[in-house]
Amino acid sequence: MSEIIGIFVAWPYANGDLHLGHVAGAYLPPDIFARYHRLRGHRVLMVSGSDSHGTPITVKAAELGTSPREVFEYYHRRFLDNWQRLGISFDLFTHTDTENHHAVAQELFRTLYQKGYIYTNTMTQLYCEQDARFLPDRYVEGTCPHCGYPNARGDQCDNCGRTLDAVDLQDPRCKLCGQRPILRESVHFFFDLPAFERRLLEYIARQEHWRPNVQNFVRNYLVDGLKPRPVSRDLDWGIPLPVESYEGKVMYVWFEAVIGYLSASVEWAHNRGTPDAWKTWWYDPQARGYYFIGKDNIPFHAIIWPAELMGYDEALNLPYDIPANEFLNLEGEKFSTSRNWAIWLPEYLDRYPPDPLRYYLTVIAPETRDSDFTWQGFVERNNNELVATWGNLVHRVISFAYRRWGGGGCLPPTRLTGGTTSCGVALKPGSSALVPCTGAHSSRPPCGRPCSSREMLTGTWTRRPRGSRSRRTRRPQPLPFSWPCGPLTP
Ligand code: MF3
Ligand code: ZN
Repeated sequence: MSEIIGIFVAWPYANGDLHLGHVAGAYLPPDIFARYHRLRGHRVLMVSGSDSHGTPITVKAAELGTSPREVFEYYHRRFLDNWQRLGISFDLFTHTDTENHHAVAQELFRTLYQKGYIYTNTMTQLYCEQDARFLPDRYVEGTCPHCGYPNARGDQCDNCGRTLDAVDLQDPRCKLCGQRPILRESVHFFFDLPAFERRLLEYIARQEHWRPNVQNFVRNYLVDGLKPRPVSRDLDWGIPLPVESYEGKVMYVWFEAVIGYLSASVEWAHNRGTPDAWKTWWYDPQARGYYFIGKDNIPFHAIIWPAELMGYDEALNLPYDIPANEFLNLEGEKFSTSRNWAIWLPEYLDRYPPDPLRYYLTVIAPETRDSDFTWQGFVERNNNELVATWGNLVHRVISFAYRRWGGGGCLPPTRLTGGTTSCGVALKPGSSALVPCTGAHSSRPPCGRPCSSREMLTGTWTRRPRGSRSRRTRRPQPLPFSWPCGPLTP
């Protein structure tokens, strides 16, 4: 039976390039999963997009002296290019600044507000008199109240790793002007998480198939009891609150970014001319939604997003699984953007082909514990396993088939019935499985050799009718290509 599989992938902040830690943690696993389910003939919808709002974007824009829109548009284009070059097969990769996403997010917010799940309350916040504005967490620095580190950020201390509340910082400083901010009251909107506590506990209790790390994380989180969470911010970049007389406030980025899973499904359905098609993934009780994220995203996907869905419409499907990954390290140390300790995806793709990376990140996937990327491991595992073991098997099988079946380059007993290779060559029904590479799927010039198996398999295959053995027409000839592009050298 054909299954209905929703593949929902964490929305990267569009404020910087992605590194291989992101790829291993959240982007390659769902692509493998999607390709597997498509091959099995299941109905797959895989969506994500750029997270375009929030202080990560505004801080970056201020650093560069440009606008948040320019920042997110720049990185969004780079993400799209990277997915194509790495072969991440999204059905839609959109962003959170579309009209559609604004509308869907506002509709959810408005409904939760009307049902009383969102309410207003005052909150004490840091305010900079010099800049005449409330300061979001990331706009404040100060001394960590736990470890005394003098340059803690408003939301987190990079020294002891604890999450912080900006008002608890000692000697707070405004990041914009350096002055000491004052405390001031401001009205904010709160999401009533405690109202969902019982339903969330029941929901979590049913998820015995979740990975142990995710189950443990969520149980520990619920032990302390849930608190109402502020879901508005004093920022001018984001989705305006759909409530009158609160101009100048926008939705908290996490509250609306998770809504992207729903709005992107709606956008996808609209784009293909079947505006109701998204409902299959969101209302059919048979459908299963899998959320691929890094472990730091667990509370937003396992608690806040399910609560938003429950509160908005009880009939909506809640996450079926949240296969959160641990972290990938680089040569024994954490990836760090601030210390520039990273391998950036666009740089990798400019230098090397995608498959060796996909192979290595798959075999060292940080599924149950943090794992380590080393250049030596990358070279060894590719040369010893992908090329020497798997490549050798494929080479033998193909050579055998080639020699025994006429050298026409067509591999019995299957023939392509149509489709397109991922480098854009249209396959005619009955055409050869070995399609010359146009190079369009990589940054390298076309090598003219057949595409790797990954490219070829995107066509549709059927069995050759019984008895239609291919005739030997020519004498065996040497293979016209070598597999795939030779071993790697360090
Ligand atoms: N932008 C967040 C990050 O990069 C992830 C958001 S996932 C979403 O950590 F579901 F909230 F969109
Ligand atoms: Zn200031």
